[in-house]
Amino acid sequence: MDRINIQASSDYDVLIGAGLIDSCGTHIRECLIRAQKALIVSDTNVAPLYLARVKSSLEREGFSVSEFVFEAGEEKKNIESIAGMWAVMAGEEFTRTDIVVSLGGGVATDMGGFAAATFLRGIKVVQIPTSLLAMADAAIGGKTGIDLPQGKNLAGAFHQPSMVIEDTDCLTTLSPETFTEGMAEVIKYAFIMDPELYETLSGIASEGRAMTLQNDIDTVTKILRCCVKDKAEVITEDEHDNGRRQILNYGHTVGHVIERNSNFTLAHGVCVAKGMGIITDACLKAGLTTEETARSIKDLIKAYGLPTEDPITAKDAVSGAMNDKKKRGEKISVILVNEIGKAEIKKMTPEEFTEFLR
Ligand code: GLY
Repeated sequence: MDRINIQASSDYDVLIGAGLIDSCGTHIRECLIRAQKALIVSDTNVAPLYLARVKSSLEREGFSVSEFVFEAGEEKKNIESIAGMWAVMAGEEFTRTDIVVSLGGGVATDMGGFAAATFLRGIKVVQIPTSLLAMADAAIGGKTGIDLPQGKNLAGAFHQPSMVIEDTDCLTTLSPETFTEGMAEVIKYAFIMDPELYETLSGIASEGRAMTLQNDIDTVTKILRCCVKDKAEVITEDEHDNGRRQILNYGHTVGHVIERNSNFTLAHGVCVAKGMGIITDACLKAGLTTEETARSIKDLIKAYGLPTEDPITAKDAVSGAMNDKKKRGEKISVILVNEIGKAEIKKMTPEEFTEFLR
């Protein structure tokens, strides 16, 4: 098992290893000695696979366990779901030493974290991500929240977890599509800050193993460790997203608009991949990157079965982005990759961004 420490306003460990679901109670007990009650937040896809095992592990450590299972999908990432979680915790008379345990992909970890951040003005949360996307990115770093009709993740809070438990066995049960969309967040780290990870991923692709990577969990685990270390470095430097952390939004500004315009029928990772491709084309056109870098970026995205294009217009992308959190005042923070492993944060007015994308 690997243990990677995150140094934020509160320090915590990310545990990565096979079979951790069955020992999660022991690990949680080690870091939360006084907790007595736990609410497991999960969705209708993940709960049948893992909830009973998480529950027995917690019960073996003396926790009294409640459950909140929501219908899988982005549509339920809303205030009604959070109110449901608050109601269970209030009904069970949770106190401030009790905990939420999120079990699932990014929707479960974002919502479990937000319910914990807001119940009794803040109780502890442990994240148990089960998708590649959530293990590599969403479950780490304390971003929690829900969507509003006007945009994705518009209401939320920074609330660092007490522990993140990543059982790599869970990756074997993901559908190939869900694994592939998670690769978009993995590839993102290579582009924005990790040239060595880029070499690893492109080596795998040139050996023709990119599309069967899910069958090689040892290699996936090594790659995941790189992403978690990268994220740990960024969070330590800028926990509250005022500076360097914004590079993690590479591909997301346009990606979120595409995702919302599809009524969430397109997966988040797929939209991030499209966003990275669109920004790369724009960078090349503006002379902010070279032909070689642009080709390397787009070839790697495609090698892992992800798209790099979308018919969205520059005007639609920018008006959608103006509703996004990545807006700062009247400017939008656009993340550019000029060379592999180096990201730049460029503030643009809506007019500049439209011109850039056109
Ligand atoms: N998922 C981007 C971040 O954690 O900042």
